[in-house]
Amino acid sequence: MARLESRLYLLLPLLNYLAKSTGESISECFTGEQKTLRINCGSGYMLRITNTFYGFSNSNTCLFRAGDCTQLEHTPYPCTGRDSCLITVPRSGKRLDNCDKNSTYFQVQYTCEPVIETTDICQSSVLTAQRGYISTPRFPSNYRDNLDCLTRIRVDPSQQINLTVIDMDLEINGTYGCKDWMYAFNQYRSVTLCGLRFNEKLTTLQSNEISIKFQSNELTNKKGFWILYEAWPPLIPTQPSTTERLTVPPQITTSPEVQTTKIAPLITSNTAVSNTKEEKLPFVAIVSSVIGTLTFILIVLLIILVYRWWNDKKDTSYKRKSQDVEYLDTRNPAYRSSTGTEFSGVEIYYNR
Ligand SMILES: *[C@@H]1O[C@H](CO)[C@@H](O)[C@H](O)[C@H]1NC(C)=O
Ligand SMILES: *[C@@H]1O[C@H](CO)[C@@H](O)[C@H](O)[C@H]1NC(C)=O
Ligand SMILES: *[C@@H]1O[C@H](CO)[C@@H](O)[C@H](O)[C@H]1NC(C)=O
Repeated sequence: MARLESRLYLLLPLLNYLAKSTGESISECFTGEQKTLRINCGSGYMLRITNTFYGFSNSNTCLFRAGDCTQLEHTPYPCTGRDSCLITVPRSGKRLDNCDKNSTYFQVQYTCEPVIETTDICQSSVLTAQRGYISTPRFPSNYRDNLDCLTRIRVDPSQQINLTVIDMDLEINGTYGCKDWMYAFNQYRSVTLCGLRFNEKLTTLQSNEISIKFQSNELTNKKGFWILYEAWPPLIPTQPSTTERLTVPPQITTSPEVQTTKIAPLITSNTAVSNTKEEKLPFVAIVSSVIGTLTFILIVLLIILVYRWWNDKKDTSYKRKSQDVEYLDTRNPAYRSSTGTEFSGVEIYYNR
């Protein structure tokens, strides 16, 4: 019993890690009464809502279980970025398109992010961390008038920076323009955003160096934005840490002396076997191995071709998908007139 407990204790850090990366869930069933979901991250943390959805439960529970029919909801919540939140649950369920049933519960998934991981865009010039958040000054409170700030993110040249707009509320101009805006660019492309946005990945800027600019005018001020940046793929761990990891597990199972004596003979006998085999290799075997190598090279080339074709296809399908998403609006016409002079080859990206 005591041994089992100590093992569970060892598992705790892992469970903590999983909870942090996948987030927490909170949900309520629809009963016709007004209900609220209360989330409290505590001071020093910022609430990040990763997902909200309606679900139909097959097992009469008020929380998602594998196999449930669900439908995502895309609503920005004003409390995103605060340390606590009160979300009003709709009174009744919504008809779910993909299974033709009325939903029975509403669920919110969230994480609590330490305030210190968020950098004020007006207080920084270059960020080089592998992951972090950038926000407008005073977020989630409103930004001020006449701001013009720029920050640069730079990671290893082998990596790219993934940007996710977790929350955004910037003043718009009519239906198609921006009065306050966020403008992200690398040496080839740019993205100008404003309006209301929520959990939106920006996939058009693939680069290891991205600059983000924020401008506000002297008129209405809104909440601003909160953006996540992540370097990808992860950097390969440095040499010392890998050798440490490799040597630790064998020490736990068997004593080091036994291991070395066991391994040493194995290696020598293996090389001996392969040596004798090589001497006996007939001519036919050599020819067939050459043919085999050529076939292998051909297959690799084919895979590369298919992969590139598939990548091109994916690019275009993303553009199509993003048009379906219903967001407020996007483009800043003021910026469009200045593209040619500031950055050659810039592409303007917008959802509609
Ligand atoms: C399903 O939901 C709709 C509202 O979206 C409601 O009018 C209707 O009564 C519900 N049906 C059932 C069987 O609960
Ligand atoms: C970054 O974006 C790429 C696609 O461009 C994706 O495959 C990858 O999973 C993303 N990584 C992270 C950490 O979001
Ligand atoms: C806002 O839109 C109007 C016309 O719709 C235009 O004249 C004005 O220049 C725009 N302002 C900004 C800041 O883009």
